[in-house]
Amino acid sequence: MNVKRYNYEAQFAGISGTVEQAIGKALLSGNYILGTDVDSFEADFAAYCDTRYCIGVNSGTDALILALQASGVAPGNRIAVQANTFFATVAAICLTGATPVLVDACPETFLMDLDKLATLDALDFILPVHLFGLATDMDRLLEIAGQHGAQVIEDCAQAHGARWAGRPVGSFGRVGCFSFHPSKNLAAAGDAGGCVTGDATVDQRLRMLRHLGQAEQNDHTIVARNSRLDVLQSIVLRAKLPSLDEWNQRRREIAARFRVGLSGLPVSFQAEGEPGTHVYHLFQLATDNRDALLNALLAQGIDATVRYPVPIHLQPAYAHLGHAKGDFPVAERLARQLLCLPIRPDMSDAEADGIVEAVHHYFEGASGHAA
Ligand SMILES: Cc1ncc(COP(=O)(O)O)c(C=O)c1O
Repeated sequence: MNVKRYNYEAQFAGISGTVEQAIGKALLSGNYILGTDVDSFEADFAAYCDTRYCIGVNSGTDALILALQASGVAPGNRIAVQANTFFATVAAICLTGATPVLVDACPETFLMDLDKLATLDALDFILPVHLFGLATDMDRLLEIAGQHGAQVIEDCAQAHGARWAGRPVGSFGRVGCFSFHPSKNLAAAGDAGGCVTGDATVDQRLRMLRHLGQAEQNDHTIVARNSRLDVLQSIVLRAKLPSLDEWNQRRREIAARFRVGLSGLPVSFQAEGEPGTHVYHLFQLATDNRDALLNALLAQGIDATVRYPVPIHLQPAYAHLGHAKGDFPVAERLARQLLCLPIRPDMSDAEADGIVEAVHHYFEGASGHAA
């Protein structure tokens, strides 16, 4: 059996003609930078996220950096972030000159441990990551932020369409930051990212920050980079967006099949959250036998993988934060135990059942071996 992690052909089913036509038109028009295609996607994605504004940028990493800058981050500001996120979340903080204040993960949700967050002092920002597609408890997080007078920037790179208390992620903080990297639930055909916000001033600043500091051409009022969403990517994203909820629903169905099929085995899973809210960017299974199970699945053609084998505080790039092994035990355990099973909206029940069977097969062999 061969189970892929991504299927781009399926993502374009029914829309490839429209996309090719729109791209062809854009290519011949010469209107390659910003303009109506980007505006249209931004309007659609803002509406999807229940926010007033969306500002397209060139990656999720830049979305985070620019969101912090637009919110007035200053060198030395203390920004709480979980120790078990992707490298880029913390890189964005460091690249603004701010200081990441790492928080361990919660053993059930695999998200920022809000009890631990509540014990920290003097925070300027809190940067929750809705990791693997599960929304953070934003009521509690905003309450803690309020006690500190801290601003909240959401990393939604893995959680397009995930919800907390009925509202989409990205709509709670000052800015919600998305990646549209080809691996994501809403995937561009290359690098792309976006910020959403309800704040008109932040919206204006973000538009200048992505566009060399210009409000008008040749009037550069702040020092800023070039980080604009590409027109061709905006066409791809806009064409895929209407399918996103249906795709997320199918991811949940596959995840439910995995949970039922694997119950009884010595494995555990990320908490599910309120029904219908997790968007399963990744389906994570935790086991002490992670590496052996991974090899067994790969040997059968099942494209499982590990996200992320090294927690933030043990990455060489973050040695300057001064942490050591043992500082964030839950993040370290997750780095040792988590394995991602392939999950795709176009995955058939037979493929999902084949994965379940392969995991059972591995554990039967493993226990037979031990006996
Ligand atoms: C949690 C998280 N934050 C930030 C990023 C950075 O996004 P990008 O790769 O588009 O720069 C990613 C994805 O790659 C991510 O998964």
